[in-house]
Amino acid sequence: MLKYKMYFKPKTLYQRLNSLFRSCHGESREKPSFDRIRFIQENTEISTNHMTPEIKLHLITPRCALWDSTADQCPVSDPFWAFYWPGGQVLTRYILDHGIVVKDKSVLDVGSGCGASAIAAAMTGARRVLANDIDPVAATAVKMNAKLNSVNLEISTDNLIGQRLHQWDVIFLGDMFYDEEFASTISDWLKTLRQSNSSCQILIGDPGRFSFEEHPAKSLLHKVAEYELDEVCRRENNGLTLGGVWSYDPSRTTK
Ligand SMILES: C[S@@+](CC[C@H](N)C(=O)[O-])C[C@H]1O[C@@H](n2cnc3c(N)ncnc32)[C@H](O)[C@@H]1O
Repeated sequence: MLKYKMYFKPKTLYQRLNSLFRSCHGESREKPSFDRIRFIQENTEISTNHMTPEIKLHLITPRCALWDSTADQCPVSDPFWAFYWPGGQVLTRYILDHGIVVKDKSVLDVGSGCGASAIAAAMTGARRVLANDIDPVAATAVKMNAKLNSVNLEISTDNLIGQRLHQWDVIFLGDMFYDEEFASTISDWLKTLRQSNSSCQILIGDPGRFSFEEHPAKSLLHKVAEYELDEVCRRENNGLTLGGVWSYDPSRTTK
């Protein structure tokens, strides 16, 4: 019950993410001697108990001590990378089921968390994959997860949201519309991205969060797939049952 993300009521999540952003840029809770690899090895287990069992991930599960701790008891700030979010799970499922979408393409996974979607892209034949997350501990976790699954990824902790990017064929956003304000920041960015690179395909995974469903940008999205969340995912994400994969496509409108 006391899983980290369950503490995060929609409104406070963005504030937590803001604090994460600060912690990733100068106010880290980590001591200089902190060993991230060791921390991840000792506080997670390798799990395939999710919607993409083809991918092994270091996750905090009910068998891990941190599962029952409060966010403040954790030595690293907000370990979002240690959970596999429902929007990321359905997006990754979609990539594994439709590898053609990324085959021989350059792929950027923004807010990559545990890195599952990026790993799926590498597994299904993407030419180049960059996993991007502003949390440096997430970067370490992605590196470890990539190794577990024998794939090569590039990893970056730069804040790319807001930047004009030209070099990507496909961009993933797994569960990044968790808050109204952040959803607006992202949708403004998507507009800019589309203007600077009209051929880039932008794929979004979301489990029907209010901040996503009610956002005006939703009318610019086209649903490409829908999955029932599996039992574990439903149990861990109270009230959510389905996850959609959406393509940002202002030329089509969907409701
Ligand atoms: C809800 S989690 C989703 C993780 C993953 N995509 C998944 O679905 O499992 C959001 C992630 O976005 C990252 N994040 C927040 N702001 C970001 C930014 N400006 N650029 C890149 N990553 C960011 C967080 O560190 C966190 O790992």
